[in-house]
Amino acid sequence: MTSDRPRVGIIVGSQREPRAGLQIAKFVQNTIRELQSQSDLNIIDLAVWNLPLYNEPGIPSHIPSPEDYKHEHTRRWSREIASYQAFIFVTPQYNWGYPASLKNAIDYLFNEWTGKPAMIVSYGGHGGGKAAEQLKEVCDGLRMLPLDKPVCLTFPDKDFMAKVGRGEDLDTGEVFKEYRVEIQQRFSELMTKL
Ligand SMILES: Cc1cc2nc3c(=O)[nH]c(=O)nc-3n(C[C@H](O)[C@H](O)[C@H](O)COP(=O)(O)O)c2cc1C
Repeated sequence: MTSDRPRVGIIVGSQREPRAGLQIAKFVQNTIRELQSQSDLNIIDLAVWNLPLYNEPGIPSHIPSPEDYKHEHTRRWSREIASYQAFIFVTPQYNWGYPASLKNAIDYLFNEWTGKPAMIVSYGGHGGGKAAEQLKEVCDGLRMLPLDKPVCLTFPDKDFMAKVGRGEDLDTGEVFKEYRVEIQQRFSELMTKL
């Protein structure tokens, strides 16, 4: 039996270990679950997908069917992304941009993204606003429907960064509690675009 609840993919943009990305994505997922249960919120972890650097011979915007990709990893990725109606990109800022892992995962596909609403949650020492801005522009290029405003989570202090480096529990629910309402508001806005 298939559910008619919209499927929302929460994409973890970083894939190094250790990292903050997965804990932050789970914080976003939990925060939205407190608000509603009308959608399926699934985490899509790029560290698990571990896609090679883009190696398809074709141009994704010219490929209408997953069967037309050369590689099995692309066909699987295509089916995964096609199965969602909306996305939340959870991305760190790396050197004023978003990470190569996320761009790589995005570039594998085109039609699978098109027309779908996107919310961006960035994070970093200063909130990752530059990464969010660049990612929004890429979403526009993919003809997605990105929200105007991202949620930018600012790390509280250098200690927090050190904890990330040691792979410790980041207590995200407490550290980022001031952002909960904003995340929920943005998510409500995302749902209106479906
Ligand atoms: C390669 C690299 C570049 C970074 N550049 C920035 C930056 O430009 N601005 C910022 O606020 N933080 C920057 N940081 C700090 C990251 O935001 C922080 O380490 C965060 O935990 C990275 O996300 P991740 O742990 O999920 O990989 C950088 C970190 C790395 C590893």
